Amino acid sequence: MKVDGKHFRTIWLAPDGVTVEAIDQRRLPHEFVIVSLNTVEEAAEAIRSMLVRGAPLIGAAAAYGMALAMRADASDAGIERACRMLLATRPTAVNLRWALDEMRRLLQPLPQPDRVAAAYARAREIADEDVAINKAIGRNGLALIEAAAARKRPGEAVNVLTHCNAGWLATVDWGTATAPIYTAHDRGIGVHVFVDETRPRNQGASLTAWELGHHGVPHTVIADNTGGHLMQQGMVDLVIVGTDRVAANGDVCNKIGTYLKALAAFDNKVPFYVALPSPTIDFSLSEGVGRVPIEQRGPEEVTHMTGRTADGRIETVRIVPEGSAVANYAFDVTPARLVSGLITERGVLTAARNALAAAFAERGAKAAE
Ligand code: MRU
Repeated sequence: MKVDGKHFRTIWLAPDGVTVEAIDQRRLPHEFVIVSLNTVEEAAEAIRSMLVRGAPLIGAAAAYGMALAMRADASDAGIERACRMLLATRPTAVNLRWALDEMRRLLQPLPQPDRVAAAYARAREIADEDVAINKAIGRNGLALIEAAAARKRPGEAVNVLTHCNAGWLATVDWGTATAPIYTAHDRGIGVHVFVDETRPRNQGASLTAWELGHHGVPHTVIADNTGGHLMQQGMVDLVIVGTDRVAANGDVCNKIGTYLKALAAFDNKVPFYVALPSPTIDFSLSEGVGRVPIEQRGPEEVTHMTGRTADGRIETVRIVPEGSAVANYAFDVTPARLVSGLITERGVLTAARNALAAAFAERGAKAAE
């Protein structure tokens, strides 16, 4: 998508054909900084520190990390060492494991001298595939926004509520939850987005608001606790969120707080949709509740907040008393029964085992092997 009129992806190969470049998302919305990644260690640290984040982007970054690893050591041991290092970075988004499995399956049978070129080619392909998948999600989700628009009075915008950042910054381009929104907006359908701030790391306030603003999509940032009230007042037409892992039965793991939004949506009969690319489906996991590994992150994300001061400095301040215990669960699981539909590249599916298995028969069969 565009930043100040220039098209960017979140991750790409530099003109030298070997260095990987990415937008440093830790610096947004205050600074737009591009960093170079030269080694698998740097790629792993970029994922761990959330320089790059969002399930599909984590997958693409891991694939590029494998390409960087092959430059240093293309032996069988090198493949395994790099996979282990990258897999240990973040536990919840299954796209990471999916991308590493793809790379390992490709690289292992190849003669060592062919591995570097093959790894770069597949990493580029994974990135391109992500863009194509997200465009398809946009086309498929558009019908939902069009249907909501048809129920509005002339000139009234469709109000979509979203959580965290499942925008183009969380993917290679377009985003998942935002793809239907950008598609509708680009076609002249009036859309307005309520953006959950998404404590503790504020991906909604910092990233979703930033990218919607750059694309000209009207939006309002709300504190995380506001969604239920808005839904009760009839101010939300539909909720669309992303996901880090969908279990075979349609249970959805996503950023902490998603479950509460789904409960509020269910109680108020607001449709609750989840947008996802197929690499986010974990067919090896029969159910999601209690089964998806939930990342716990450092307490400083809760105890501190970072922002720009009036005189332009970026500062981090403490907001919790010294000595208070802190818990920082990064994700939660929404049971399939609360999900109105899964917006995928192959259509809008019921959040149910048979629907997922039928739509992605080749993936389900592979997982069962
Ligand atoms: O911890 P993050 O910022 O990586 O979490 C991101 C989310 O929860 C997104 O909503 C999810 O990855 C879907 S991304 C299209």
